[in-house]
Amino acid sequence: MTSRSGEWDLSESRIRIAPSLLSADFGRLAEDVGRIEAGGAEVLHLDVMDGHFVPNISFGVPVIEKLRPTSKLFFDTHLMITDPLKYAGPFAKAGSDLLTFHIEVAPEPMAIIEHIRSLDINVGITLNPGTPASAIAPAVEAVDLVLVMSVWPGFGGQAFIASSLDKLREIRTLLRPDQRLEVDGGIDRTTVAAAVRAGADTLVAGSAVFGQPDPIKAMIELQELAEAAR
Ligand code: DX5
Ligand code: ZN
Repeated sequence: MTSRSGEWDLSESRIRIAPSLLSADFGRLAEDVGRIEAGGAEVLHLDVMDGHFVPNISFGVPVIEKLRPTSKLFFDTHLMITDPLKYAGPFAKAGSDLLTFHIEVAPEPMAIIEHIRSLDINVGITLNPGTPASAIAPAVEAVDLVLVMSVWPGFGGQAFIASSLDKLREIRTLLRPDQRLEVDGGIDRTTVAAAVRAGADTLVAGSAVFGQPDPIKAMIELQELAEAAR
């Protein structure tokens, strides 16, 4: 499925850095997003936190809705919320191109996947560091993307959990070439190559992009390191 903005075809297996809005300047979101878009980004990772599934609150529907007309980036929305079924509709309507939900809050993942598909956008599934790959295995063939959390969700700037590499390798074996494997948390110059070698093709980076003095330079360096590791 192609993004609404037409910029990112998920079925194409290329290395992509996905800058995370969580580390942008919340007083100047549109400018920060515009900068990385001008610098060649294709995808923006949007971390939605409800203060319930995770111990932090970030932003919600109105922020995404206001950013949408300012950008052609593929909006990769990561729902760290307790009730994805209830809120998928509003987040799709706000302009998300992909909604990723957590298996930990989805006793019936197929119902959520079908609902998100009915909204005519892409669907991803994700799992926390403490959740085994086997938890998502029954649903994997029905999604466009699997997101492996390489930190406990809730905050940017945490250290990469090394055991995530084994999980990436394990999940990679479950995926078709048209499905993406994304990794989120602690991706920087020192960890990006190992994540790619373990099978990740889509690399979320918050602090390592927006947290840097020159976010575009930092993003391009990560992209080059990732491509060299493939
Ligand atoms: C963490 C979020 C991440 C976060 C990553 O809960 O899901 O997307 O922005 O931040 P860094 O790249 O700083 O670890
Ligand atoms: Zn995220």
